[in-house]
Amino acid sequence: MTREKPKTFHVKSFGCQMNVYDGERMAEMLAAEGMTAAEEGAEADFVVLNTCHIREKAAEKVYSDIGRLRREDGTRPMIAVAGCVAQAEGAEIPRRARDVDIVVGPQAYHRLPGLIEKAQQGEMALDTDMPAQSKFGALPDRTAQKRPTAFLTVQEGCDKFCTYCVVPYTRGAEISRPWQAIMDEAKALIDGGVREITLLGQNVNAWSVEDCKGHSQGLDGLIRALDRLPGLERIRYTTSHPNDMTDGLIAAHGEVEKLMPYLHLPVQAGSDRILKAMNRSHSAASYLTVLDKVRRVRPDIALSGDFIVGFPAETEEDFEATLQIVRDVRYAHAFSFKYSPRPGTPAATMEEQVPAAIMDERLQRLQTLLNQHQLEFNQATVGRTTTLLLERPGRLPGQLVGKSPWLQSVHVQGEGAAIGDMIEVDIVSAGPNSLHGELKKRKAA
Ligand code: SAH
Ligand code: SF4
Ligand code: F3S
Repeated sequence: MTREKPKTFHVKSFGCQMNVYDGERMAEMLAAEGMTAAEEGAEADFVVLNTCHIREKAAEKVYSDIGRLRREDGTRPMIAVAGCVAQAEGAEIPRRARDVDIVVGPQAYHRLPGLIEKAQQGEMALDTDMPAQSKFGALPDRTAQKRPTAFLTVQEGCDKFCTYCVVPYTRGAEISRPWQAIMDEAKALIDGGVREITLLGQNVNAWSVEDCKGHSQGLDGLIRALDRLPGLERIRYTTSHPNDMTDGLIAAHGEVEKLMPYLHLPVQAGSDRILKAMNRSHSAASYLTVLDKVRRVRPDIALSGDFIVGFPAETEEDFEATLQIVRDVRYAHAFSFKYSPRPGTPAATMEEQVPAAIMDERLQRLQTLLNQHQLEFNQATVGRTTTLLLERPGRLPGQLVGKSPWLQSVHVQGEGAAIGDMIEVDIVSAGPNSLHGELKKRKAA
């Protein structure tokens, strides 16, 4: 039985920003194929679940999501599972969820149009190849963006093999996209109205290539080149590994005006014994040295991190070392997770898995401390005058929400300002998750 080509689509992305980016590129590709994006909340003929495999909860969610796509009359859309669960579980997915028509990995989604045709013929379409030819060259050019901010993936994959993590298996080996492809994409985004670009990679600061003159370039070189593009106001990058924070990249934080004072640098744990078992290849002290260097060139930098509590054999003393590193750094923002054993990773079969109740209790103590520091960071910006890039309307009439250089959400009464504008505000109040600003009145000349 053949099925009609889908006319409308919906791409739903979970997980990290790189998945969000992939979701946007899939949507642009489906639009180039003549399909239209379904209205928010409306049913679509084709649904892509762009999944995340990082923790068990995230990975299991996809199966309940698939079930929910059945309509009341018993019909369902064409369904594709993309992203990291697709890569990790492959052919197992249609065995567990018979409604799935397509399984496509993160390095193969440029081949979606062919997979859709196959699904129309009633065949199961599976593609989890990691082709030598990168997908990027086969994707349509970027189209005009709805928002003034955009992600741009410059690096993919990971060679670090932290013992808890699935990413090296789901995303493959580290690759850096070529210089010119990145510059072309950045220019297309800027032409389409983008004023802030966030460079993405699983280890974005491991990005390195030869430039057009044959010189070896690291991420700082790319940032300096983007800094020279007219129309671009702000540059950010994420996520970084402590071992790839080169002196050149640190120096860029003190010198490149468009590079925003924000650094997401995960440490995961504060105990050297646990860091070693995690195969992080840095110590608590070497991590703190990197942050010291960054703070020396950019004293106002907002620091952010990721933490895992309850890694196998983590003792109370190890956990106390994590709390201590948090007290030493005083993060502006952080993500913290309970350790989740992942199939195929070395840590999953380690002895002394930490009981759930202890993990819960440690996570709560850690988050209380992180939340307190986040609030303190926000409160310390009250009274400052700063620039916002306005990103979206607020809930109140006339209200707009923008981001500060330190990635805080700031609410302001717009008074004629528009989304995409850069405006000067005085920060007047701060809560744990957002701040309020007042539009700065320009003094008469
Ligand atoms: N490449 C980045 C991000 C990797 S995934 C990095 O190295 O920092 C994002 C975060 O998820 C990690 O930083 C880690 O804190 C968390 N994470 C990864 N695997 C996990 C697991 N098995 N259980 C709990 N958290 C995990
Ligand atoms: Fe995972 Fe470690 Fe690679 Fe980050 S550096 S993606 S945590 S293996
Ligand atoms: Fe998740 Fe894959 Fe990103 S596992 S965090 S979507 S790289």
